[in-house]
Amino acid sequence: MMENAIAKKEMNELQTQYTSTEEVILRRRSVRKYKKEQVPQWMVKRILEAGRFAPSAGNSQPWKFIVLRDQKLIDELTEDVVKATQKGCQLLARKWMQPLIKPMIRMKPNRFHPTPFSVMPLLADGKLGLYFGAPTVILILKDVRGVSNPDLDCGIAGQNMVLAAHSMGLGTCWVGFTKMALEADKKWKRFFNIEFPYEFISSIALGWPSGNLDGMVPRQTRSVDWYEDGEKQNIY
Ligand SMILES: Cc1cc2nc3c(=O)[nH]c(=O)nc-3n(C[C@H](O)[C@H](O)[C@H](O)COP(=O)(O)O)c2cc1C
Repeated sequence: MMENAIAKKEMNELQTQYTSTEEVILRRRSVRKYKKEQVPQWMVKRILEAGRFAPSAGNSQPWKFIVLRDQKLIDELTEDVVKATQKGCQLLARKWMQPLIKPMIRMKPNRFHPTPFSVMPLLADGKLGLYFGAPTVILILKDVRGVSNPDLDCGIAGQNMVLAAHSMGLGTCWVGFTKMALEADKKWKRFFNIEFPYEFISSIALGWPSGNLDGMVPRQTRSVDWYEDGEKQNIY
């Protein structure tokens, strides 16, 4: 009886208050301004642990993480991404490219999505940093031999790391543009030893946020189909 009463009280509280995990999920924002101060190694190791404990199809854990905490290396990688975006912008501006752009988008709509293309000139002009001064960067590689969908598993592991970092007061930003340096020059794949069975998926900038940038913002609502007791409802 007593146990039931406690469970009911806890359920009531749960209905009105976010748990600390939910708070971190709802308040996390991409941080694009960092302090120079390095993140302690133990924190990064704890963050990697959060990634390592992520669920994966068939428990195949198809990921490998590379930690960059060498400013010279981070700067060189950034320079190469900037150069690659400059080349990309020049190529896209060529007259002969114009009729090819639409078919390219049709063939690979995710890769040639307008959002990264609108950001490319900002990166090329140095108006948008790559890692925004973050002193630590984590590269996420997938093991292509993973069960079912290793990209998805890597995304889950990455988000575990992001949430763990924010729960510690750190800031993060996913940075997909790292791929441009890795694709533009084979030297990076050689340097990081990225070869079969590994492929680059994405990266995460990590550091102490400059200012308190986390906080809840309005998000789009997508309607959810809800099947219950023989009825279908739409919620949101
Ligand atoms: C896989 C992935 C790649 C991303 N790549 C970049 C990037 O290269 N540069 C960047 O500034 N933001 C990048 N972002 C951050 C998104 O722009 C950001 O998550 C989105 O605008 C929502 O904002 P919020 O994270 O503050 O909620 C990336 C996010 C994800 C999930």
